Amino acid sequence: MSVKPLRECGPAARIAVIAGDGIGKEVTPESVKAIRSAITSARRQIEFVEFDWGADKFLREGVSLPAGAVEMLANEFDAILFGALGDPRVPSNQHAADILLGLRFKLDLFVNARPVELFHDRLTPLRDRSANDIRFMVFRENTEGLYVGVGGFFKKDTPDEIAVQEDVNSRKGVERIIRHAFDYARRNQLKRVCMSDKSNAMNFAHDLWQRVFKQVLQEYPEIESRHLYIDTLAMEVVRDPRQFDVIVTCNLFGDIISDLGAQLAGGLGLAPSGNIHPGRTSLFEPVHGSAPNIAGKGIANPLGSILTSGMMLDFLGWKSEGHALRNAVRSALQENFVTPDLGGDKGTVEVGDWIAKRLADR
Ligand code: NAD
Ligand code: IPM
Ligand code: MN
Repeated sequence: MSVKPLRECGPAARIAVIAGDGIGKEVTPESVKAIRSAITSARRQIEFVEFDWGADKFLREGVSLPAGAVEMLANEFDAILFGALGDPRVPSNQHAADILLGLRFKLDLFVNARPVELFHDRLTPLRDRSANDIRFMVFRENTEGLYVGVGGFFKKDTPDEIAVQEDVNSRKGVERIIRHAFDYARRNQLKRVCMSDKSNAMNFAHDLWQRVFKQVLQEYPEIESRHLYIDTLAMEVVRDPRQFDVIVTCNLFGDIISDLGAQLAGGLGLAPSGNIHPGRTSLFEPVHGSAPNIAGKGIANPLGSILTSGMMLDFLGWKSEGHALRNAVRSALQENFVTPDLGGDKGTVEVGDWIAKRLADR
């Protein structure tokens, strides 16, 4: 598949918007509103094009990821702003796998960047921890591992049934995510990179992670390299999150540790992420899902999606607008203008309006 290079710092951007299901449909419009409000300079132009891919379309037409969608996104858009997918009417989660995992794999978005940052001391469940103590980046490998869908059933629906799910790890795949973590640390003057695996039990797949890590770290002598098994990492990020600047791990462990990290910094309603292939069309989504338990109530927290949009603007090279979005979120948290998940009584649209106004007034 041919993909054009991204227009770094260019004046105009085209964004595909896939709001998806559940609260994805509620928070994503607030993000679009915030971005529009953040872009005040006449030098910047942004065009949003919406796509109705999700459970409704899947149930109605049997279409999840439409034919030609990947090439169209890669060739005609700079980035994708994504909400969430998942609907109780599709128990197999087939449409979500086709669309979300499909785009991650087919656009080769090998970096899943999930920053954990505490914006206000009161938001952490940890005792005696403040904003300076909780600031690290999780890089989750995003195109391989246990997510590739290689496997099968043997003797299905019999008492002797066997299910196999293969963990696929390529040297190139492991190397590029580990290298990305080190490069990020170097670029941002961060001192420490921690690779996490389960090589004490997964003696093939994670033996490869061990060998590649030991090879790559030699090229970054100024960075303190460390390895922790994933169970120990889960314990250590709770015990003392100050130890971490950059964490790099495989697809499944990154999924789990990023929800844990999100909770240290205020919960899923606040956690942003980017699915990135540097220089190519990349996809930005909050860490949370479609939250069927609160969907349709107008109380979903839009700040995770708005911080996600901040990451997207950074990626486009529009740093001052990305910064403005983060500052507006910081102000909403300081003034406690927040949804019920953060102890407030505001609705999704109320918070979105507040952020948009704050950005317009700046
Ligand atoms: P979830 O993230 O949707 O919800 C977990 C909990 O966090 C719920 O109690 C929910 O109410 C709360 N929550 C999440 N986001 C919130 C927000 N913005 N504001 C306030 N509260 C919020 O995870 P789940 O319940 O395990 O999954 C629901 C569906 O979403 C499933 O179908 C799952 O597969 C899917 N999912 C999709 C994505 C994605 O599209 N990126 C990510 C995770 C889960
Ligand atoms: C996430 C989600 C997805 C994942 C699901 C919906 C497949 O939990 O983006 O964190 O596991 O990657
Ligand atoms: Mn997840």
